[in-house]
Amino acid sequence: MQIEPFGLTRPIVASRAGSGPSARFFATAAKGTEPLLGAELREIGVPLVRESRGGVYFGQATLDAYAACLWSRIAIRIHEPLASFECRNGDDLYAGVRSVDWSQFLGGERTLAVRAAGTNAQLTHTHFIAVRAKDAIVDQLRDGHGSRPSVDRDDPDLLLFVHLVRERATVHLDYSGSSLHAHGFRSREGVAPLRETLAAALVRFSGWSGESPVTDPMCGSGTLLLEAGLWAARHAPGLSRERFGFERWASFDASSARDLARLRAEARASARPAPLLFGSDTDPRALEQTRGNALKAGLKITLSPLPIARVEPHGAAGLLLINPPYGQRLDRSAEVDRDVERALTRFASQQRAVIVPVDYPSQLRPSRQLAVYNGPLECEFRGYDAVQPRRISFRAPAASTPTPAESAPAKPSPSKLPPRRPG
Ligand SMILES: C[S@@+](CC[C@H](N)C(=O)[O-])C[C@H]1O[C@@H](n2cnc3c(N)ncnc32)[C@H](O)[C@@H]1O
Repeated sequence: MQIEPFGLTRPIVASRAGSGPSARFFATAAKGTEPLLGAELREIGVPLVRESRGGVYFGQATLDAYAACLWSRIAIRIHEPLASFECRNGDDLYAGVRSVDWSQFLGGERTLAVRAAGTNAQLTHTHFIAVRAKDAIVDQLRDGHGSRPSVDRDDPDLLLFVHLVRERATVHLDYSGSSLHAHGFRSREGVAPLRETLAAALVRFSGWSGESPVTDPMCGSGTLLLEAGLWAARHAPGLSRERFGFERWASFDASSARDLARLRAEARASARPAPLLFGSDTDPRALEQTRGNALKAGLKITLSPLPIARVEPHGAAGLLLINPPYGQRLDRSAEVDRDVERALTRFASQQRAVIVPVDYPSQLRPSRQLAVYNGPLECEFRGYDAVQPRRISFRAPAASTPTPAESAPAKPSPSKLPPRRPG
């Protein structure tokens, strides 16, 4: 068996060109959002960004991982693949995991947890894989250092992931600790809240610059407005975290702590004023949730109890974001679908982006589309570029008097689609 152990500084990820520096970290992302996470990581300023399936490789220095933990809104976890080895059975797994020096992370009273994914012909249970990997670590520390780390499945100091693909295992070190998907401001959730990471991905997908007003006419608990507002305000989501996973490792010394403190101070200093944010919904409880979440996030959102049919643009430039009811957890009707379509038309001078199920009816042709998953549901981001003001009228048509184009029937099935109008 060939084992390739890697310390804190040795990457295992080959660069695309096959030569030159390689990325050391991997940021995981919701399926479909990888290109948006790639764009975000480039904006954060980490080097060697390369999109892959399920996430994005990036960075070289340990500080790159810290910066991603602090700033990424789209990443779910930040991993470092620590060792990759041929793994046919439990013995290979044990030897491969034991080849890493675990004393650099554990020791003292520190706890660990191992999660496993993937199976092969001889390793058929992920629970067995996790236990065998944990045994290798515990045995190494007991034999070499006389300490015996205990397991804490819920809140470990060190969290590891073992991924098995056929006969190759990779051991990933988890920098973030708990998942990064919760950005810390959403204490109130509606019936069908959007994941913060997906909301942040939609904001980036929209192409909005962060300066003009944002409207969400079906705001629910306000996730889209909050993500847009916090991104524009340059508020680092990681500032609301008490501690990242890496802060609990033996390797996190005084100099690491100073580096992280400097990153946090820079993040706090980079804050800017947020743009105008407008939210509305027909459900008064949703508005109450948004109000509470905005207060927690330190953002001001102007809220109105209005149906989407009565929401008008606040000026020519701006961003319209919509996450309409899908008919799963919330009722959906052809009338509401049409109201969403009309809102997209009324806001044509603004950038617009929606997240909808793939078969969501629309006669408007999006400027761009991206397949994403909203939980298990196959969805789509649809983005519509702003139409030049001289080409459109600002007097929005009343919901009761649709224009001929708007009054076209809702899409019956994807296969019978008439040509769509440019959005
Ligand atoms: C999928 S939820 C939005 C969830 C939101 N993005 C979040 O993260 O909490 C859709 C929202 O549309 C609202 N809604 C349904 N019909 C509406 C209508 N005709 N006008 C305005 N809001 C409506 C519902 O009350 C619900 O809050």
